[in-house]
Amino acid sequence: MEQTFIMIKPDGVQRGLVGEIIGRFEKKGFSLKGLKLLTVDKAFAEKHYSDLSSKPFFNGLVEYIISGPVVAMVWEGKNVVTTGRKIIGATNPAESAPGTIRGDFAIDIGRNVIHGSDAVESARKEIGLWFPEGAANWSSSLHPWIYE
Ligand code: PPS
Repeated sequence: MEQTFIMIKPDGVQRGLVGEIIGRFEKKGFSLKGLKLLTVDKAFAEKHYSDLSSKPFFNGLVEYIISGPVVAMVWEGKNVVTTGRKIIGATNPAESAPGTIRGDFAIDIGRNVIHGSDAVESARKEIGLWFPEGAANWSSSLHPWIYE
């Protein structure tokens, strides 16, 4: 089954949005396969965002991500990468639809609350970086009530 990497950024943790965000993924029917609260250092954040190192906002993005604890998660389910991005909403909260996490809880792009992998391959890389120990191995007994 497909997996994605989801991170609640420092603003989401500070603002008490952890339970709300986890609830949205749970209620959709996805399965939580990894979860930890941690503060990352600059080198780790630069590695996570290495594809963006030439962007003008790169340093600000790294400073933001290391500014406090984040919640790193692995979620599993059919099409979870694409659907997870839909649940999150557009990168810029000004363009995120109401009902999405960013549409409901964010205003500025540099404080957009949550990260989600943009493709199956980046999810694989990001899960490897954040969960070198591997994701949990369990299956929900609700599967027959969620999948036909
Ligand atoms: S880009 O420029 O198309 O590669 O960027 P995009 O794919 O839209 O976003 C990649 C991540 O960069 C963050 N981002 C920004 N952060 C701060 N300021 C500005 N202006 C900005 N623009 C993009 C954006 O939130 C994405 O981070 P994640 O963690 O993946 O959401």
